[in-house]
Amino acid sequence: MKSSQFRDLACVIFLMTIPGSALTLPWDKDMQDQPSLKPQDSVFSVNRSSVPVGGKDRFSPPENVIELVLARLEAGRTLINPVPKSPESLGRGRQMYQLHCQVCHGEQGRGDGPVGLKFVPQPMELNLDYVQLQPDGQLFYTISHGSIAMPFYRNAMSQQDRWHLVNYITEVFGES
Ligand code: HEC
Repeated sequence: MKSSQFRDLACVIFLMTIPGSALTLPWDKDMQDQPSLKPQDSVFSVNRSSVPVGGKDRFSPPENVIELVLARLEAGRTLINPVPKSPESLGRGRQMYQLHCQVCHGEQGRGDGPVGLKFVPQPMELNLDYVQLQPDGQLFYTISHGSIAMPFYRNAMSQQDRWHLVNYITEVFGES
């Protein structure tokens, strides 16, 4: 056997002694790199060009507070609530409220939920005329796009459920 052949053979034998797992170095990143849900990742994988089944939301998110206020008023003028205030709608609205809003706005809508108490500014008191006299479309807009400190819910709730929630807020709150 020539010396170069001997060297190749020695090289192959040496490689065979390395366990497969050694080739996946660095090991400490394997867990991190696997396809998995990372903290704060969205659980929705939405095709960028797709639109919601019920049609596209009319407004794109505002860039600043002035735009937010104007877009909100515009929504109040143009969006019509398509969902009648039936007992079923109020029941569903109540579920949505308890699931998404109560932590901040409190059981009675007074802005004193356990998370809300830690907020500056404090969550809006939903019984105030300021809220109760808003047109349904304006409240729908706030729920869909959030407010200044408040998160948005257009991805967390269907359009239908957001209208149920509007029905619930205007029917159940504002009495006292
Ligand atoms: C994480 C806390 C938090 C949650 C959850 C939350 N809000 Fe709010 N919300 C706030 C805060 C803080 C404000 C006042 C400051 C602002 O406008 O962002 C507010 C303001 C509002 C306003 C008044 C907006 C205006 O016209 O000025 C409405 C209406 C409202 N929230 C409804 C809701 C509804 C309905 C839900 C459930 C989908 C909800 N909020 C969930 C914190 C929250």
